[in-house]
Amino acid sequence: MRKKISLIGAGQIGGTLAHLISIKELADVVLFDVAEGIAKGKALDIAQATAVDGSDVNLIGTSNYEDTNNSDVIIITAGVPRKPGMTRDDLLGTNLKIIKQVAEGIKKTSPNAFVICITNPLDVIVMALQKYSGLPTNKIVGMAGILDSSRFKYFLSQELKIPVKNIDTLVLGGHGDTMVPMPNHTTANGRALTQLLEENTINKKSLDSIISKTRKGGAEIIKLLEKGSAFYAPAASGVEMAESYIKNLKKTLPCAAYLNGEYGVKDLYAGVPVIIGSKGVEKIIELSLSKDEKDNFDLSIKAVKELFSSAVKIDKDLAK
Ligand code: APR
Repeated sequence: MRKKISLIGAGQIGGTLAHLISIKELADVVLFDVAEGIAKGKALDIAQATAVDGSDVNLIGTSNYEDTNNSDVIIITAGVPRKPGMTRDDLLGTNLKIIKQVAEGIKKTSPNAFVICITNPLDVIVMALQKYSGLPTNKIVGMAGILDSSRFKYFLSQELKIPVKNIDTLVLGGHGDTMVPMPNHTTANGRALTQLLEENTINKKSLDSIISKTRKGGAEIIKLLEKGSAFYAPAASGVEMAESYIKNLKKTLPCAAYLNGEYGVKDLYAGVPVIIGSKGVEKIIELSLSKDEKDNFDLSIKAVKELFSSAVKIDKDLAK
């Protein structure tokens, strides 16, 4: 039987998710949005596209949670995106309220689903979603690391003039200005980036500028678009996570996962490499970090913790 993916939020990312899922024939799609017309309109449009590309999946649009009943995967993008000049943290108050409603909706209708959250500020919103819904921590993850790594990879490929697929890299920590690109865990054409630095194939100044561009990758796009934020790469990243779960691919992917002592962090969501298979988050991979990487990671964790404290001030329910 075909799997079912429900997309909570049928905006820019939600619509792109639906299109990618249908092209890949990954699952039937339910597009849910409080703006019912948007959900129904996009479902119809993409369903008509399946008639062109021959994909055999069903799509519906709805504003009724019952239609999302027994989903295998739920991907959440409900919320407001950033405007130029805003940080992800500025979205906290508004998106926290929205995520509380979403948590209520999905816990009743799809208690066994694998839930991927994309709504920002990511780490704190996914943590709030887990607390509000009470769903198991291995079944709730946040999408950020794949996107941040894809930006790091892209900028490196431009600098080194090699295809993106020849670069392996990781970005860990929180999905914000303190995210931690990991040069020591990066290879290009199979060779360590540290080695390329030593032989001056890339210099320290260019690498630092790439790290800074990666951290500001989302903001650069928002400034250019003027309206809305990035959606193609975020959607592609969300689909990679959903596919690894549905097909039990057991890929190692950087995701915002619940840490319970790993990396010295307890009771917090943050970006680390995890294995995603049919049981959800099956394992958290603990990399050994250099002193610099560890210091940067700790700084990022501190930022996530501080933002979560602000969330608790907004809604005391999160203190439970
Ligand atoms: N339930 C369901 N959908 C909602 C709710 C709600 N309570 N509140 C808002 N929405 C819907 C909006 O109607 C809108 O269609 O969420 C959708 C968000 O879509 P966009 O505004 O296009 O935003 P998008 O670019 O898709 O980003 C969504 O993901 O990456 C993050 O920062 C981004 O937080 C933002 C989110």
